[in-house]
Amino acid sequence: MRINVAMQKGGVGKTTTSINLAGALADRGHDVLAVDADPQGGLTLKLGYRDHYREAEFALYDVLSDIGQLTLNDLDQLIVEGSEFDIVPSHLRNFRLEKHLYSEARGVEALGIALDRLEEEYDYVVIDSPPNLGPLADGALLAAENVVFPSHPNTIARESLEILFDEIDTLEDKFDDVQITTVAAVLNEVSHDGLSSEVQQWFVDTFGEEYVFEIPDWAVIEHVIEYRTSVFAYNPDDAGYPWDADKTEALRDKYTEIAKHVEEIA
Ligand SMILES: Nc1ncnc2c1ncn2[C@@H]1O[C@H](COP(=O)(O)OP(=O)(O)O)[C@@H](O)[C@H]1O
Ligand SMILES: [Mg+2]
Repeated sequence: MRINVAMQKGGVGKTTTSINLAGALADRGHDVLAVDADPQGGLTLKLGYRDHYREAEFALYDVLSDIGQLTLNDLDQLIVEGSEFDIVPSHLRNFRLEKHLYSEARGVEALGIALDRLEEEYDYVVIDSPPNLGPLADGALLAAENVVFPSHPNTIARESLEILFDEIDTLEDKFDDVQITTVAAVLNEVSHDGLSSEVQQWFVDTFGEEYVFEIPDWAVIEHVIEYRTSVFAYNPDDAGYPWDADKTEALRDKYTEIAKHVEEIA
């Protein structure tokens, strides 16, 4: 199963969700691949692959664009084995990818085709999206056909979601055999003031209660990122934050809940 973590806005928790959902699925014994489809490389950098981002010989640019040095058969060559899950890192060069995907005939379908042709088999592929609408984001939606919406519980969340729903409708109209399924909405940095509970209610009404997950506003999330892993490989003592122990457990439980929900849908 492939899952795209999508929202055309920065800072809503796409990368955090991608890393920890991939970590949760891996922790449950699955073979997982995380694909960083964001040219800004949030997932790649947050997992500590800065050298790949700046210096790797090949990138998605080479695999997905017609003018690159590789073909759609070569995605395997980009995979880096990680301790929790494998990743296809992003690369600075991918900033130039968007332009090519716009003009190439099968541009938005390229990522899906490349994933179909992977030699290595994964139980789950988690694709982290860029913070804009464009061929890379469309390509991730098409490749996965399952989408997780991370969001902040604020008043513009609804607006952003409606824009993304429209984009999904447009893709479904354009590609006859494509049906994009909503897997979950993940509300990040939830605190318990009046405003967020109102927005939370809108999410529950829109998606159904069992599809909405809440991740609290906890410092441990930042500490996990500093540690360059998901919360499942995070060791609070080793990281120098021994007081994170309880929240680490609680956060693992939250992402495990999302992973179990994903398993049910798969
Ligand atoms: N539940 C949360 N609690 C606290 N901070 C969070 C939470 N979720 C995300 N963040 C922080 O918000 C920032 C943006 O998250 P990120 O996942 O990079 O967003 P995006 O990929 O959508 O741009 C990061 O610094 C991240 O650590
Ligand atoms: Mg990101």
